[in-house]
Amino acid sequence: MQMRKIITILMFLGLPTLGAASSDTVHLDQPTINLKDMASLQRGARVFIENCLNCHSAGYMRYARMASDLGMSEDDTRALMYTSDKLGELMNVSIDEAEAKVWFGTAPPDLSVITRSRKPAWIYTYLRSFYADTKRPFGVNNTVFKDVAMPHVLAPYQGVQKAVYAEGHNGDKKVEKLLPDQLGSMNTAEFDAMINDLVNFMVYVGEPAKLVRYNIGIYVLVFIVLLASLLYMLKREYWKDVH
Ligand code: HEC
Repeated sequence: MQMRKIITILMFLGLPTLGAASSDTVHLDQPTINLKDMASLQRGARVFIENCLNCHSAGYMRYARMASDLGMSEDDTRALMYTSDKLGELMNVSIDEAEAKVWFGTAPPDLSVITRSRKPAWIYTYLRSFYADTKRPFGVNNTVFKDVAMPHVLAPYQGVQKAVYAEGHNGDKKVEKLLPDQLGSMNTAEFDAMINDLVNFMVYVGEPAKLVRYNIGIYVLVFIVLLASLLYMLKREYWKDVH
């Protein structure tokens, strides 16, 4: 009897989550994240700086820190950077936020900690899921991020995919799968490997920011302990003459 009640309660608790998971969620592919793989992180850094940093910033990261963390020489790092930037500078963008808003309708967000708000699997799938859609301003849509304002900047490598549609259960068209249409300079395996390196690098970029947050936490704790002991001493001082 008791057991049956528990099972019933568990079922009620479980039902809403099951419902939410089954409808409209897109399958996400899992990248291999390995922050000890320096070669992968270095390749990812190159892809990021060459293809993303002209619109997105990674404003928590300095070139110099990246170079020393990833074991890159100063010369290699300088070769990647825009000439006007210095090694000690933050990875900021040169485009103006207000202008970007006019061009894209939305300003490209800072990507420093994107792998924590969006999971690595989401970003890995997102960057591989652009497809041709003539109804969109840049001619592409995305299965993971519907009506996204970002152009398919990696089209030279991946090419352009076309969507195969299926009828959804409520009668509307749904993207069933994506097929290669116009070819890029890479095949699918090469492109996936490049995006894996890129996402690996983006996870690394999100980590130092986490460390900064932990440091602040420690200062706050030290402050609270100091304050408490001061207040305690004050209390003793006040009550000294009362007894
Ligand atoms: C030409 C400018 C441009 C370039 C280059 C670009 N993006 Fe974007 N990106 C955008 C814009 C604009 C958005 C905002 C999309 C929206 O909100 O609809 C965006 C959104 C994103 C998002 C989703 C952010 C969110 O809201 O969760 C990710 C992740 C992303 N970009 C990653 C990248 C990566 C990685 C690269 C490099 C391979 C890159 N982008 C290159 C313009 C760009």
